[in-house]
Amino acid sequence: MQLVILGAPGVGKGTQAKRLQDRFKILHISTGDILRDAVRGGKELGKTAKGYMDRGELVPDDVIIGIIRDRIARPDCANGFILDGFPRTIPQAEALESILAEMHLNLDAVLEICIDPEKMVERLANRRVCRNCGAVFNLITYPPPADGKCPKCGGEIIQRDDDKDETVRNRLAVYEKLTAPLKRFYAKKGLLKTINGDDTIENVYEKILKKIGPDFQ
Ligand code: AP5
Repeated sequence: MQLVILGAPGVGKGTQAKRLQDRFKILHISTGDILRDAVRGGKELGKTAKGYMDRGELVPDDVIIGIIRDRIARPDCANGFILDGFPRTIPQAEALESILAEMHLNLDAVLEICIDPEKMVERLANRRVCRNCGAVFNLITYPPPADGKCPKCGGEIIQRDDDKDETVRNRLAVYEKLTAPLKRFYAKKGLLKTINGDDTIENVYEKILKKIGPDFQ
């Protein structure tokens, strides 16, 4: 199964993608996580990406397309994958089509999660992540432990650099300009399934399962 999960910053793409990974035994591929790992590891890719990420801008298409081309060709993707944060532009979506065609694969669905923009800002302002393993918390809905240590790996729990208010507003503007056109792109192909994400994490997950349909359950 090949899925794309689409939506503005903070709608809950990563949260839901992790659940779908566990449920369907498909790999969750987050381009944001790949880039943050590269920044942490001091890799060349991280040095290229950091400035764009800190400004809330998109990393150039050719860089990201190369990452995805390599990643989905690995054996751990043989059972399928869920792309979180990719594609983010029409050229990325067109490149994905070509890559999948070369691999004789299709996209099964594009899941779009939408919520009220002010809620996105609130969720991102309250998001905390583990510096080490990337586990995601929320000061309101899923608070991290009081000692500030990740319960999964003991890593330090921090706020993402790009979750500061000004960067968040820029990320939302970039989403509207460059990524929102993908909704039409995928709707025309009959792949788009829109989910109202303004609900509990569990209820959003149930709505996604219903949208994906019984064939996949
Ligand atoms: P990326 O990491 O992909 O960031 P994003 O798309 O902005 O998405 P987020 O990770 O911020 O949000 P999310 O929707 O996953 O929400 P989450 O589940 O964490 O990209 C970062 C940067 O990398 C980009 O700005 C760009 O520079 C670069 N980049 C990445 N991909 C690229 C690409 N393809 N091309 C070019 N550049 C690229 O949830 C958010 C919070 O809400 C959490 O605290 C969570 O606990 C909480 N929450 C989730 N669901 C619910 C719910 N139902 N109710 C209440 N709280 C909830």
